Amino acid sequence: MCGIVGYLGNEEKKEILLDGLQELEYRGYDSAGIAVIEGDKLNQFKAIGKLENLREKTKNYHTEGFGISIGHTRWATHGKPTELNAHPHLGAYSYVVHNGIIENYQELKVELQNDGVNFLSQTDTETIVHLFEKNHKTNTNVFSAFEETIQRLDGAYATLLITEADPDTIYFAKNGSPMLIGFNGDDVYFASSDTPIIGKATEVYYLEDGEYGYAKQGEVKLFDANGKKSFTKQALTTDKVSAQKDGYRFFMEKEIYEQSRVMTDTMIGRVLDESIAFDEIDTALFDSIKAIKICACGTSYHSALTSAYLFERIAKVRCDIEIASEFRYKEPLLTKDTLFITISQSGETADTLEALKMAKRAGLKSLSICNVDNSSIVRESDAAILTRAGIEKGVASTKAFATQTMVLWMLTLYMGQERNTISKEVLKTEIDAMLHAPKALIVTDELHAKLHRLSKRYLHGHGFFFIGRDIFFPLALEGALKLKEISYLHAEGYPAGEMKHGPIALADSELFTIALMPKTMHYDKIKSNVEELSARDATILAISPEPFELADDFVQTQYSSHPMVEFFEMMVVTQLLALEISVRLGNDVDMPRNLAKSVTVE
Ligand code: M6R
Repeated sequence: MCGIVGYLGNEEKKEILLDGLQELEYRGYDSAGIAVIEGDKLNQFKAIGKLENLREKTKNYHTEGFGISIGHTRWATHGKPTELNAHPHLGAYSYVVHNGIIENYQELKVELQNDGVNFLSQTDTETIVHLFEKNHKTNTNVFSAFEETIQRLDGAYATLLITEADPDTIYFAKNGSPMLIGFNGDDVYFASSDTPIIGKATEVYYLEDGEYGYAKQGEVKLFDANGKKSFTKQALTTDKVSAQKDGYRFFMEKEIYEQSRVMTDTMIGRVLDESIAFDEIDTALFDSIKAIKICACGTSYHSALTSAYLFERIAKVRCDIEIASEFRYKEPLLTKDTLFITISQSGETADTLEALKMAKRAGLKSLSICNVDNSSIVRESDAAILTRAGIEKGVASTKAFATQTMVLWMLTLYMGQERNTISKEVLKTEIDAMLHAPKALIVTDELHAKLHRLSKRYLHGHGFFFIGRDIFFPLALEGALKLKEISYLHAEGYPAGEMKHGPIALADSELFTIALMPKTMHYDKIKSNVEELSARDATILAISPEPFELADDFVQTQYSSHPMVEFFEMMVVTQLLALEISVRLGNDVDMPRNLAKSVTVE
């Protein structure tokens, strides 16, 4: 996700910005840029791809003496990852960087275009710099022109603005997106999180929503809706790794909490009021396609399994799912009317990449769903949809699974819409449900505390069965995988209706059954499957909106009108359960034994 760094002082500005942006790399980005004003010298550099590209572009550029500077790493939301869309955005004599979303940018853009402003990028951010310069024409006081500007912005933002009209000052504002100010003597730093300024600034002030102001050497003035205000600095931590975790104990925990936000990022510009749009796909990709085959590994395979139900049910297209490592050696029969989809968080999984190459050799069209742009799988595919989860550090995948599943849900609707297999009314209902998904992913203190409490009862036993039906069966597989990976306890995911065909023989009080019991999907069927297990004395943890009297433990979810919304809420419950069990067992949550984040070998 996007990152901001700013610096005002006498040190080498280019290095402070580039080093700071490097510290934000772990959040993910697809382009980067910096702008520096030193007296009457104004310089700006942008590059797509890795920060190395920006370093290369700036290798002969050095700053000297006092100056002001801003930098940014961008994760594309409005507009593709291009140099023109990269920040800082330039007006006639000012630059701006911004994180968040300006919700009313279309309206502001039209207004500015009517005034003759020429926009260079497709971003919402560019409106800020033009609006500022428009205001500055009639209001020569730079600060009040800036104040007027931010008063017109709706949505979430953390923004820095520098202008030749006041070359000693950085203007800042924060609402909904994080930003902090660092201090060291007369030098002032800005960043979207602690890590870029650790080791440079000694004190920090974390801006609150609605705060804005300006910084000069040795002087920072802060304002909010009530006018000028005082603030208290605090000592800045010196521990970078813990700062990257944003206060969470583990990256996995942080990533579980991030899911609600990244899900919104995944939908931006794609889920419209009454339709689904994928700018990155040419609809010709679907021409003469009669079937879909998806290949993936691990968690990505589970998101694929979930989508098979949706592709057939909604898009009315046959969909087969294969584990990539199996697919490679089965001598599969491939026909050119099949669209070959690969799913991968890293984009580097060797088995998935090889499966993709096989499909390409057989002449199939290919599409990848991936979290890492420019990864091998993305480069190898005819088309790619990025999941926009941001960098995932925990080996146990969480937000990658959530966003993959969301992209697949969107894709089934997109295909249904393009192939006329769903009505406008059904599409609208699905979109409404989709927009509720981020809410279902919010982790409340109450829920987390409940799973922490429950986890102490699940540290032993001779195994876990996660059971579910329909799309909740792949979710059961995923819940079991999460638990296995980080608790080292044996867990299996099973289709609930299949238990009586064998596994029920294992049932006794030491067999823990995690029952996914959504109210919107086959509730009575799964209920009777769970009753059968309960009758054989299995210990039942039921996850459902509906109270279930035979449950030994019960986590109540919200009543919802759509199975996918229930799916995402139950997903969070299973992730937190695995996390809390692992913590109690004293395991390394983020780097479980024997596992690697990216499996680049066969
Ligand atoms: O990067 P990928 O999505 O291709 O990785 C696939 C699997 O290795 C991965 O999902 C693995 O199963 C995770 N550790 C699951 O938490």
